[in-house]
Amino acid sequence: MLTKVEPCTEAALRQAAEWIRAGEVVGFPTETVYGLGADALNPQAVRKIFAAKGRPADNPLIVHIAELSQIRPLISGEISDRAAALAHAFWPGPLTMIFPKSDRIPQEVSAGLDTVGIRFPANEDARRLIQACGCPIAAPSANRSGRPSPTTAAHVLEDMDGRIPMILDGGPCQVGLESTVLDVTGEIPRVLRPGGVTPEMIAQVAGSCRVDESVMRPLKEGEKPRSPGMKYRHYAPKGSLTIFEGAPEDVAREICRAYDAAGENALILALEAHVPLYGGRRVVSLGLDAVDMARRLFDELRGADEMGATQIFSEAVPGKGIGLAVMNRLGRAAAFHIEQV
Ligand code: TXA
Ligand code: MG
Repeated sequence: MLTKVEPCTEAALRQAAEWIRAGEVVGFPTETVYGLGADALNPQAVRKIFAAKGRPADNPLIVHIAELSQIRPLISGEISDRAAALAHAFWPGPLTMIFPKSDRIPQEVSAGLDTVGIRFPANEDARRLIQACGCPIAAPSANRSGRPSPTTAAHVLEDMDGRIPMILDGGPCQVGLESTVLDVTGEIPRVLRPGGVTPEMIAQVAGSCRVDESVMRPLKEGEKPRSPGMKYRHYAPKGSLTIFEGAPEDVAREICRAYDAAGENALILALEAHVPLYGGRRVVSLGLDAVDMARRLFDELRGADEMGATQIFSEAVPGKGIGLAVMNRLGRAAAFHIEQV
């Protein structure tokens, strides 16, 4: 299959919508990461997403809408006042909320769960695409399973060339990490995957917010996570990644020591301000702060592969605000190999 990459013109959006209506899978931009979209109500089309990604069938997809009125037929029961307030505050935006699902949601989407994740993206092109399709769109991140999520159309092509008919190119993603996944089925909202809408922001609107304990540690043997995606190794570069956490000078000293012991194909990921601490060693800057790190992390993990880095050493960031999402992705990419210094 030939994979066409097109900028998001009116004509390209129309063509992408036609593919989706015809039961095909299309790559498209959102403000978080690129998605691999298909008609959420068409089980055959949804199966093609799993095939293109090489995704395990027990990992559910989230469903994207472009108008609040689309949500009612997809969920069962009432929307709580708390969920309504969160939708009002953060939609459209990088927030996915988990609701009890209606029976219109195919088994393929929910992967056997009785819930469904709904997301209303902020990205204009994503919304135009959903509107042009006239159906909700099921979309995971547009990477092959296990690879870092794509934040440019070029990343999507790297992973999906020949597997899907079309990729819409909307430029680099603004947030750079996937949406916050928030379970709103219980009394207190619970973050299953941290993202651009932070626990602090959620607590301000909902009064309180829990962060699931699986966010910052590996799963225990036989443990069943609340979010099935948490059990898979994710975001992983080919080289081995170690994270160092502590005061910047101590971290730099320990990273230099590890780097020097590692030999040729080592690479350091650091904040811009700390780059001088690493002398002439091979360092990639992740930017000025946690927001920059979120935007650049997946691209730099792919870049580390291209450089052939076999050992990667990264600075940590404080797990506050979007820093929690950065540390969650970095931690999982490193299989939670985090050295305290
Ligand atoms: O930003 C995003 O969320 C991107 C863009 C394309 O919208 N999508 C995305 O989808 O990251 P995916 O499939 O790569 O990640 C969705 C995560 C998975 O870890 C999955 O297990 C979890 O959300 N998830 C989906 N439905 C769920 C449900 N009903 N209950 C618990 N977790 C769910
Ligand atoms: Mg994903």
